[in-house]
Amino acid sequence: MHNPRPQAIREAKDIVNRFAIILKIGQTYNADNQAVVKAVDSFVEMVTPVLRNEQSIVIELLGEYFHFNEARIRYTVQYYVNFDFLMEEFRKRGLGSITFNDTISRRDLQDFIRAFLSCPTSDSPFVSLKGAVETIDSINIGALKQAREGEIVDKRHTLRRTYFNAVSHLKTVVGRIKVGAENVDVKKARLVVNSLVDLILEEEQMLISMTAIKDYDEYTYHHSVNVSILSIALGMKLGLNKKKLSELGIAAFLHDVGKVTIPDGILNKPSSFDNNEWEIMRRHPEEGVKKILATMKMDALTIRSAIVAYEHHLNYDGSGYPDVPESHRLDFYSNIVTITDRFDAMTSARVYSRSPKPPEEALHILLQSAGKDVDPTLIKMFIKMIGVFPIGTFVALDTRELGVVYRGNSMHPDRPIIVLVADSQGQKVENTFVDLTDRGLDDRYRRTIKKTLDSNKYDINLSEYLLESYV
Ligand SMILES: [Fe+2]
Ligand SMILES: [Fe+2]
Repeated sequence: MHNPRPQAIREAKDIVNRFAIILKIGQTYNADNQAVVKAVDSFVEMVTPVLRNEQSIVIELLGEYFHFNEARIRYTVQYYVNFDFLMEEFRKRGLGSITFNDTISRRDLQDFIRAFLSCPTSDSPFVSLKGAVETIDSINIGALKQAREGEIVDKRHTLRRTYFNAVSHLKTVVGRIKVGAENVDVKKARLVVNSLVDLILEEEQMLISMTAIKDYDEYTYHHSVNVSILSIALGMKLGLNKKKLSELGIAAFLHDVGKVTIPDGILNKPSSFDNNEWEIMRRHPEEGVKKILATMKMDALTIRSAIVAYEHHLNYDGSGYPDVPESHRLDFYSNIVTITDRFDAMTSARVYSRSPKPPEEALHILLQSAGKDVDPTLIKMFIKMIGVFPIGTFVALDTRELGVVYRGNSMHPDRPIIVLVADSQGQKVENTFVDLTDRGLDDRYRRTIKKTLDSNKYDINLSEYLLESYV
């Protein structure tokens, strides 16, 4: 077993990040271009002392993580985009590991970039890449290994536990706020939200996919946790640091806390509200402020949470409720929460809105109101994050099969991974995942999304499919 020194582990992230940068630049310029040479040289400079100590460096992709000489590399916000890119590039080529031996030269790396970028990404890409890399002495590659079943199960387990722990904790906090307890301790809420932040940094797509699970009976709690997750994920895309992500997550977590003052009879009313009932509903932002200020200890986080609770039904242009002066500008966190809150609300089944909208329709509605109801830049980033076909979208394929979008593909937003629900004969299918970037022998895509369908009309239990494992 290889035991990397702590120093090397610290450098591992930088090395993997720098490697991703070389490939990114190599995609734009050719391998002899000055920009590429510069990036290659700085990479060589970085790895040379490490190679001297370690003899070799193995960068391996196992499941969702890169490993550096067998030590798992944790994701960081800073490197997230490059790691994500590198992972996609590895997967597309069936590439699992790259080993740098002895001394590495600029030439070797340039040769590798050429081989890597010219290798086709369909029809046994790994075999052709392996052939091309064979001539480079200091670099070896290995095929992508399937993640061990145990790891996948563990990961699923952690995801589920974290998500449902957040839901159940929120219930406790809200319960205490409801009975008017003083000094409600948000320390635990911080811990819970921090666990969400950590998971999003590592398993963004999978945790976002959990938000597609809507619980009709526990709507408010699931909704608040979903809004928190989606807000943290959007905050991450905006480059917020961990402390800010945690603040944003808590503010989002508590945005609807004022609803504790609304009688259940109104909250769960199956028919539409009369004027008086609307009046009561519309008071929940102000009630939220009161509850937060009365029950939490006074600090910057409490004030920020109160602001978000107050502003979350306001629009970007200051319309909406409660009434604010025309010059009022929404807090940055509120601008995020107004998007994630509306998206989750529109896509959820609620008592007073019986038919939830399919995710892509909700995104379309939000985009149309950009600049008026929601921040125009943030909504674009949100749509990019959720994808053209958001996770949980129920789709019909050109093969007449039906499926649910399981995982997005940032390089091919229209070609996500699908978990099949029914075959071309309409027979139920279980545990079958298909990648829409797969091509047949004729080089054509095997499957393409033909249209999206409303899962509510088909009585599809999304959670049943989304919690399946994908190996
Ligand atoms: Fe609300
Ligand atoms: Fe809400």
